[in-house]
Amino acid sequence: MWQYINGGTSARFLSSSARASKWWDHVRIAEKDPIVAVKEAFRADPFPHKINLGVGTYRDDEGKPFVLQSVRDAEAEIKGCKFEELSSSAVSSKFVLESVKLAYGNDSHVVKEGLFAGVPALSGTGACRLFAEFQRNFCPDSQIYLPNPTWSNHHNIWRQAGIPVKMFHYYHRDTKGLDFSALMADVKNAPDGSFFLLHPCAHNPTGVDPTEEQWREISYKFKAKNHFPFFDMAYQGFASGDLNKDARALQIFLEDGHLIGCAQSFAKIMALFEHKVGCLSVLCTDKEKSAAMKSQLEKISLAMHSNLPMHGLLLVTMILSDTDMKSLWRKELKDMANRIQTMRSTLRQSLEKLDSSLNWEHITKQVGMFSLSGLSRDQVKQLEKDFHVYMTPDGRISMAGVTRSNVKYVANAIYQVTRMDEEVLCAGNSGNQ
Ligand SMILES: Cc1ncc(COP(=O)(O)O)c(C=O)c1O
Repeated sequence: MWQYINGGTSARFLSSSARASKWWDHVRIAEKDPIVAVKEAFRADPFPHKINLGVGTYRDDEGKPFVLQSVRDAEAEIKGCKFEELSSSAVSSKFVLESVKLAYGNDSHVVKEGLFAGVPALSGTGACRLFAEFQRNFCPDSQIYLPNPTWSNHHNIWRQAGIPVKMFHYYHRDTKGLDFSALMADVKNAPDGSFFLLHPCAHNPTGVDPTEEQWREISYKFKAKNHFPFFDMAYQGFASGDLNKDARALQIFLEDGHLIGCAQSFAKIMALFEHKVGCLSVLCTDKEKSAAMKSQLEKISLAMHSNLPMHGLLLVTMILSDTDMKSLWRKELKDMANRIQTMRSTLRQSLEKLDSSLNWEHITKQVGMFSLSGLSRDQVKQLEKDFHVYMTPDGRISMAGVTRSNVKYVANAIYQVTRMDEEVLCAGNSGNQ
């Protein structure tokens, strides 16, 4: 079809498809997210016994996705519920209150006095995205400090909100633990009043968390520098198996009087990945401020996705507010955390039994779903090519992908691809003697 697009004597005619293509000529294929890339490579591998250690969601001991009994019970309760007759603002308020209680404790003054503004969000990602948008709206000249390394999507989220991203030291490559002195130096050297993103527990991708004493020091320094702590809590309960223990960092900051921002995700801790249930909350000094902040968060949320689907919100609210369901869920969460801890110990023991002279202590020292193994990019590639074992290029192992039946195979594969390093190490040692 030809269309007249320009008047006068120099009128030109273009086919509609040629004209339309002009708009997007500059669009190129986006760089693939490393986690998505692993998923696709794994899917494309026809080997029947391939192993995916890139998965970010919990798997049971047979490597299968897991549906919690507490979730099934909640589902049975809401079956037949007439969603269209529910008030979405009442459901949202109850959900937010239960989520905030989970983070700060039922008896905390912020809960009792209502000193928070919160909104439901599209899981942890949506909660971070909402906060980034809020930050851009109300602190347009600010930036965010992210731990190095962090979950790769944090970079995308804040970049897309137009907030400049900086990094602070977190992980020490040699010790495979926390680089605490470098972290504290970065906190000290950041301009006063900076925004920092912190993982309160089960840090992704390292599995390295500060100790309680270190959190106290961090909180103290944040106070002195008037920094804003934004906690991204996607794994509460996965580090220790105990919800309160894993929220200790938030409680320490709360005791010190910080006005905390917090993103919560129920994707992993209730195995509700596909439901996308999350909460964003920000603590406030008084009720008036809470109302103002809430209204602004709701306004941003409305523009981003209007109301959120109610099914997942109801499930989570029901589990958190029903005593029996909540205690069943706590037990199931503990079981998931225990299975992961057992796999950490078994993987380490299996590597040590193979007489690997490398130090694998960090596998059991790190906590939560992930372990930054120390494997190099080349070793990760070799694992894929020779052993059909998949993980992200940074060497992050998702412990949820390790099972009793594959752990020996995984250990042997890791042993084989790290043997070269061992030989270099041994040659180096004998040269020194
Ligand atoms: C640290 C961290 N925050 C947030 C998320 C977001 O999770 P979701 O959007 O699936 O709840 C993840 C997921 O991997 C994560 O690791």
